Amino acid sequence: MSDAIKVGFVPLSSAARGILVVFCDDSLKVGPATAKALGGAIEIVKRAAAAAAFKGKSGAALDILAPEGVKAARLLVIGAGKAASLKANDFLKFGGVAASKLSAGTAAMTIMAELPDGAMTSEQAVAIASGLRLRAYKFDRYKTKKKDGEEGGSRADISLAVGDANAAKKAFTAAGHVVDGVIIARDLVNEPPNVLFPEEFARRASQLRKLGVKVEVLDVKAMQKLGMGALLGVGQGSARPSRTVIMRWDGGKKGEAPVAFVGKGVCFDTGGISIKPAGSMEDMKGDMGGAACVVGLMHALAARKAKANVVGAIGLVENMPDGNAQRPGDIVTSMSGQTIEIINTDAEGRLVLADVLWYVAKKVKPKFMVDLATLTGAIVVALGTDHAGMFSNNDELAERLLTAGIETGDKVWRMPLGPEYDKLIDSQFADMKNTGGRHGGSITAAQFLQRFVDGTPWAHLDIAGTAMGAPKTDINQSWGSGYGVRLLDRLVADHYERK
Ligand code: BES
Ligand code: MN
Ligand code: ZN
Repeated sequence: MSDAIKVGFVPLSSAARGILVVFCDDSLKVGPATAKALGGAIEIVKRAAAAAAFKGKSGAALDILAPEGVKAARLLVIGAGKAASLKANDFLKFGGVAASKLSAGTAAMTIMAELPDGAMTSEQAVAIASGLRLRAYKFDRYKTKKKDGEEGGSRADISLAVGDANAAKKAFTAAGHVVDGVIIARDLVNEPPNVLFPEEFARRASQLRKLGVKVEVLDVKAMQKLGMGALLGVGQGSARPSRTVIMRWDGGKKGEAPVAFVGKGVCFDTGGISIKPAGSMEDMKGDMGGAACVVGLMHALAARKAKANVVGAIGLVENMPDGNAQRPGDIVTSMSGQTIEIINTDAEGRLVLADVLWYVAKKVKPKFMVDLATLTGAIVVALGTDHAGMFSNNDELAERLLTAGIETGDKVWRMPLGPEYDKLIDSQFADMKNTGGRHGGSITAAQFLQRFVDGTPWAHLDIAGTAMGAPKTDINQSWGSGYGVRLLDRLVADHYERK
């Protein structure tokens, strides 16, 4: 992990160090403490704004040499747009914009967390701090030479000047754990597949024990005993043995049913015997983005001591072609007893999830389950990279996810389920087949999963477009995005934590 940013909180009246960052609205108005820090230089700033056609639009930045009288090296003015209509997510973006101005040589920055009508709230300031860290993240573990002038100072020391430094510091402890969770998920997605295979992934998930998470690792023998023939069929062509990991955080009422999160953890997806074309196959190292999110989420919840009972479960396999690999035409028996005819060995994610979802429904009996999976290329065609596809048998859960998505910026868009789609996955030889043909590929995949939730309230998030390879944003410059960690942390915080 490359997280070279240190964020501290100081009072609004503190002297600036390094780059001074201030906020203005779309009429270029600034708050009282900011006006004081700028002093007589405010007229020069206005001239610079006019020259650069800077109008204070939300997220726009005016970056100038600090004028005479401003005690800083550089002055960065960030537009807050219409200050009254700002959402939590906007402050995250502001942090990202500020972090983008840290160059390799810049060590210090002071950010005045103030809007025209006064100091930002602690939550808003903390969102800026989170945005700074998310933006500055880089995965450079395997680069032996660092380039000059790369974004994100080698060691940046940032002071957020806020109304109540103690309150902000306290709030950032929890928010910082969530950022750590996102970074853990990004690291896992970015890791190469020769390093991160099922056993190694299980080992990394087991590190959650340090936070008081109970971690149980099921090996191949244990899964055979449970009858997880669908998951094991996918992994049987790999020299790397499959694993299922169950993580349990008991921060809620004793004995209360937990909420559960399930992740697809295909550490590499060649397609198996139905092998994928070579172009971009390297991207399939990220086919464990669902499992990565679940591990990052469990980290966030445990580290911030969430007052909820939560189970995370991930199915870890490698989908490889081999003499022992499963074939199109094979029929496997899932843990549920339902049989599946394999039509295409590249539709492996649903086979992995079938057994893990059933395991969780039966053994954990959760209030609900949300699974995350880089499941179909079809969802990328349908929704692009800005929304994950959401499928659910429960309107309340779907509504809550939709809202948490808008609040965090990890957006979801609901897609349909329905018995009409069932005939597309009926098989002439088994209870079902693992692909439904070209039409509605993401829907038939979800419809397949629904057969393994046993009536449990459930939502499936198809994150093939959002977990990796999405265009860079204000708060993410990395291939692996860590999508879903903040979404689900928010879902738990808003609805399932004891107050
Ligand atoms: N892991 C892929 C889906 C995927 C594609 C994720 C692109 C991220 C980017 C999944 O296992 C897969 O291969 N799905 C097939 C299903 C098909 C064979 C029914 C697909 O989407 O083509
Ligand atoms: Mn596949
Ligand atoms: Zn896959």
